[in-house]
Amino acid sequence: MPNIAQSRFAERICLVTGAATGIGRAVAWRMAHEGACVAVLDINGDQLEITRKGIEARGAKSHAITADVSVADQVRAAVQQVEIHLGPIDVLVSNAGVPIVGAIADLSLDEWDRTFAINTRSTFVVVQAVLSGMRKRRRGVISITASSAALVGEVGSAPYAPSKAALVNFAKQVAVENAHLGIRCNSVCPGWVDTPFNDPSFANDDERRETVQRQVPMGREGTPDELAAAIAFACSDDASYMTGHTLVVDGGLTLGPT
Ligand SMILES: NC(=O)c1ccc[n+]([C@@H]2O[C@H](COP(=O)([O-])OP(=O)(O)OC[C@H]3O[C@@H](n4cnc5c(N)ncnc54)[C@H](O)[C@@H]3O)[C@@H](O)[C@H]2O)c1
Repeated sequence: MPNIAQSRFAERICLVTGAATGIGRAVAWRMAHEGACVAVLDINGDQLEITRKGIEARGAKSHAITADVSVADQVRAAVQQVEIHLGPIDVLVSNAGVPIVGAIADLSLDEWDRTFAINTRSTFVVVQAVLSGMRKRRRGVISITASSAALVGEVGSAPYAPSKAALVNFAKQVAVENAHLGIRCNSVCPGWVDTPFNDPSFANDDERRETVQRQVPMGREGTPDELAAAIAFACSDDASYMTGHTLVVDGGLTLGPT
């Protein structure tokens, strides 16, 4: 963890979804390290408890909620719970996601709907729930984790990539509707990142290394901490004039053929 001179999130209350592992956990710990009170939400309660303990170990207040982001009532109730336990939410990181991929010819309607329910509709629900308070207070920042897959055509990436492409545009809609109220919203697009998310994509470590070296100009996967740094930047006052932006953090993956 880098040594941060300022506490960019001091006194701020943050909610991070999909925070049981990977990028979401790294974001939660980074924001705690920088002074935030951090609420975390995930379907995986056991791993979420490790994230919560890590927040407290960094001297920050925490609140953990086990919930399924694809169930709207659970998400709305979670937002209410966070506001009761920690206070009004200043920063939302909508980050939960699943990697459902396959050839279009073989995909079922259920796979399409489930992907959009978890990756896309859930973001609308949590953003809407958090926005009502932010709009009343005329302040707030939102970061939506999309994907570099949202920006390109890629064999076998439906329905995952379209579900993330919708988020890139949704961040712009949130930004343009709320900019005059002092509320910012950006999307962050990771490329290959070393988290459990990609485990099903590769048969073994050698295949993983070979694929990443072939596709990524920087020749390696990103780390959860590198993504947390970008998301923390987007959510901090360092990015105070940035809204509706698509922040690509992919080691050059989307630059074109290497
Ligand atoms: N790892 C990558 O290479 C990569 C690349 C591009 C985008 N992303 C995006 O980054 C985000 C975080 O992924 P990660 O790489 O940290 O993977 P991860 O698997 O470590 O984290 C995803 C989290 O979402 C949670 N989740 C899944 N379904 C849920 C549900 N229905 N309700 C609540 N929580 C749920 C999981 O339990 C998990 O903790 C995802 O949105 C993913 O699409 C990841």
